Amino acid sequence: MSNYHIKHLEEYYKVYRKSIREPELFWEEIAEEHFVWRKRWDKVLSWDFSKPEVKWYEGAKLNITENCIDRHLRINADKTAILFEPNDPDEPAQHITYQQLSEKVNRFANVLKKKGIGKGDRVCIYLPMIPELAVSVLACARIGAIHSVVFAGFSSTALSTRINDSDCKIVITSDGSLRGTKTIDLKSIVDEALEKCACVSTVLVAKRIDTDIHMKEGRDEWLQPLLDKASVECEPEIMDAEDPLFILYTSGSTGTPKGMVHTTAGYMVYTAYTFKNVFQYRDNDIYWCTADIGWITGHSYIIYGPLANGATTVMFEGVPNYPDCGRFWEVVEKHKVNQFYTAPTAIRALAKETVEFVNKYDLSSLKVLGSVGEPINEEAWHWYNDNVGKKKSPLVDTWWQTETGGIMISPIPYVTPTIPTYASLPLPGIQPALMGENNEELQGNQVEGKLCIKYPWPSMARTVWGNHERYKETYFSAYDNVYFTGDGALRNAVGYYRITGRVDDVIIVSGHNLGTAPIEDAINEHPAVAESAIVGFPHDVKGNALYGYVILKEVGADRNHDNLRKEINQIITEHIGPIAKLDKIQFTNGLPKTRSGKIMRRILRKIAGNDISNLGDTSTLLNPEVVQEIKENVV
Ligand code: WT7
Repeated sequence: MSNYHIKHLEEYYKVYRKSIREPELFWEEIAEEHFVWRKRWDKVLSWDFSKPEVKWYEGAKLNITENCIDRHLRINADKTAILFEPNDPDEPAQHITYQQLSEKVNRFANVLKKKGIGKGDRVCIYLPMIPELAVSVLACARIGAIHSVVFAGFSSTALSTRINDSDCKIVITSDGSLRGTKTIDLKSIVDEALEKCACVSTVLVAKRIDTDIHMKEGRDEWLQPLLDKASVECEPEIMDAEDPLFILYTSGSTGTPKGMVHTTAGYMVYTAYTFKNVFQYRDNDIYWCTADIGWITGHSYIIYGPLANGATTVMFEGVPNYPDCGRFWEVVEKHKVNQFYTAPTAIRALAKETVEFVNKYDLSSLKVLGSVGEPINEEAWHWYNDNVGKKKSPLVDTWWQTETGGIMISPIPYVTPTIPTYASLPLPGIQPALMGENNEELQGNQVEGKLCIKYPWPSMARTVWGNHERYKETYFSAYDNVYFTGDGALRNAVGYYRITGRVDDVIIVSGHNLGTAPIEDAINEHPAVAESAIVGFPHDVKGNALYGYVILKEVGADRNHDNLRKEINQIITEHIGPIAKLDKIQFTNGLPKTRSGKIMRRILRKIAGNDISNLGDTSTLLNPEVVQEIKENVV
């Protein structure tokens, strides 16, 4: 029996038990079976959650791109590695073979080296979903530079914060991006951001749109001419198992975004292993994940996991509703996609349209459907399962996080029987725990609590860039000796997990993780705003939408409220990006506060969600009278 590929339920249980009983042996065998190591590890795992410190495959030496590219060249040089589907359906798709990918990555790596980038340097990548994005990520990994991809929908302020936080030397961007009918001028966003970033000396610009852009003398250079001149050979930098591979920012309940640091060997092993099993990937399958590489889903399951398995991975530049709402299904038919992985918010948006958009296309190639990013509600689950999967392709609801690096709880298709809205069972090596009100671990089934993980897994983030204390505080201080996820979950009678949602101040809007604090900070910059509080409320497409309670200063009291609402959303767009705009804004004279001055968000959430029947005890508030006022003026 191979540990690597699970094919039956009994096998799952057997493998799972082994992974718990002998975790080191389990992960050692997987690492031995499927990867190229320049030097073997001395120790599979050492860990101490009280520090917290976790090391996997210590002493091993490797380069992840050798595993994702070079080793496939011997027999799969001509196989498509990346299948690029452009925004415009009339523009031809690009089939980039493993051989071509190797050459592109090596050329890019050589360009970076020429620009003085080497092992450990941070590289900010701010690109749309074009092949250069995947290539630049891999080029960094080739030379041991740490990539920090920033989603190209983020604003210039959000970009500069992230560049400065990790002290990036170089930014890779494009002149613009294409999203449906829109063209976005990315380069000018970068220019604006860099006014605040002294650390950046070089900007490399890929060409995607046809306009003249400003190029700053001595700093900005077009990428293509540099690539054309560069050699297609580049020896991989040999990395230690625990050398950082990348930083990816995620929002927290408080403060600035956290730069989650992922390291090399454990991340590679875990993403490869979970990709193979969760998507039941077979040799000639065409796999498509619709996420953006700016998020962890794209890192782990568009780039690293699929390529480590020698897969063909589709990269889609466009959006689900352009030229019409059949676009996803048109692409599935066109490329005969076998595994399709998307987010509930996309499903809910498409489910609002006529099912003719789905039925028009031949989806018979599909074998596995995936969902990720937020809980998938029952209605969306059935729509996806019935209309796209035709009740034949298993639908896997995969729960995980930026911090976990890879999928943690998920059915294995054709192995684990699925139940709508349940992420079901932990993958091998994952030991979930539900914690109760008194910080105790809830035993047995039919319990609900806060979701923690009791034992290290190879792809867990090792720290927050530049702030290990914050890592400890956020993930390891709520409970002793376990990793706290920030999510609530229940375990049903058969031991399946259902994720019930965040239990902190992170709000997931259209699958994007948004912290309330940075949004409130942005709003408070408006000269007429004295104070604000943001909460989420249920939304039938986005899952959650944002509701803002805003207290105006004296000077703003007489302003036109509709204009103020527009200005507030404008400020949010500038500071974070359009994804963080508020759906509803209520102006109020006060916010309910505890005697220690903390805003009682629980009450605000209930009012925003129109659930005012039981607001709980408000008598202990500093200012109980504002609750009535807020209720009366709800928007
Ligand atoms: C948060 C992590 C993991 C890649 C995308 C999001 C929520 C994620 C599910 C799911 C219920 C889910 C959680 C988690 N979440 N997947 N299948 N069911 N909730 O990564 O931006 O780090 O967000 O997304 O609340 O904590 P992220």
